[in-house]
Amino acid sequence: MCRQKGTKPFYSEDVFGPDLNDEATSGQVSQERCPMTTPIIVGNWKMNGLSADSADRVKALLAALASQPVAGTEIVICPPFTQLALLAPQLKGSPVALGAQNCHMDEKGAHTGDIAPGMLTDLGVTHVILGHSERRRDHGEVDETVREKAVAAAKAGLTPIVCIGETEDQRQSGEAQDTIGWQIKGSLPDGFTGVVAYEPVWAIGTGLAATPEDIQTTVAFIRAELVRQFGESGKTLRILYGGSVDAGNAASILAIPEVAGALVGGASLKPDAFLSIIRAVPAH
Ligand code: 13P
Repeated sequence: MCRQKGTKPFYSEDVFGPDLNDEATSGQVSQERCPMTTPIIVGNWKMNGLSADSADRVKALLAALASQPVAGTEIVICPPFTQLALLAPQLKGSPVALGAQNCHMDEKGAHTGDIAPGMLTDLGVTHVILGHSERRRDHGEVDETVREKAVAAAKAGLTPIVCIGETEDQRQSGEAQDTIGWQIKGSLPDGFTGVVAYEPVWAIGTGLAATPEDIQTTVAFIRAELVRQFGESGKTLRILYGGSVDAGNAASILAIPEVAGALVGGASLKPDAFLSIIRAVPAH
C-alpha cells in the first residue's frame, strides 16, 4: 500500500483485515508520493470575503505557517469565485492550496453564471468542493449532478471534495445511513480518486458538532460503503468530517483513526482558529 512510514491508516484493520501490501508485510518502503494518505484540512469560506479582508486573512495564515511550519498536512482554502484570481498569486509557492466551492460539469458553453473546471485550473485552483448540502438545498443539486461534476472536475485535473451527510429529519427518522449510502452510490463516479467529506447537515453552522463516537460509527459505515463500491481503492479514499469543527473540538475529531481531516466553515474565516485546527492534526 502506498503509505508513508508511520502514517496511520485511514481504514480499520479490525474491519477490513490487515493490509497485505503494507510496508511491514512487504518489507519495502515506498518512496512514491502518496497524496491519498496525506491528512487534509480544507477551509470553506462559503459566501464570505471581499478583496481586503480575504487578502488579510491569507496573509495572516501564511505568516503563521512561515514562522511555525506544518509538515505533512495538505491545507486548502476555498474562497468565493470572486477572490480566486486575487488570492492565487498570494498563495503561489506557499503551503496552502487554492480550492473552489463548485464548478459546472461542462467544459464551456451557454451556462450563464456558471464556472467550468478548466476556468479554475487556469487560475491555479487545484481542489473543488462539490455537492455541499448548501448547494443541494439552494440550487437543487442532486446526486447525479454531483457525480457529473466530479467526473468533469477530475478530468480537468482538480481534486473533487464530494460532500455527503444526512439532515436532522433523516437522522431523527433513523434514515441517516440509508441517506449516506445512496449519496455515495449516486454522487461518486466510477474510478473516483477524490476526497469524501461527511458533513451532517444538522451540524453545519450550529456549533453542535457530531460526537467523536457518532463520527467514528458513521465514518466506518462510509468506509464500508466505499469498499463495497470501489473495492481495494475504497480502502484509501480520504474521508473528512465537517460540521462545527473549531479550535476546541478539532483534536478529538482528528484523533479518530478513519478521519483524514476536516472541512471547516466558520472557523476557517478566523486565521487563529483555522491554524489551531491545522495544528490539531495528529503527528504522523
Ligand atoms: P461550519 O464549520 O461553519 O459548521 O461549516 C461546515 C461546512 O459546511 C463546511 O463545508
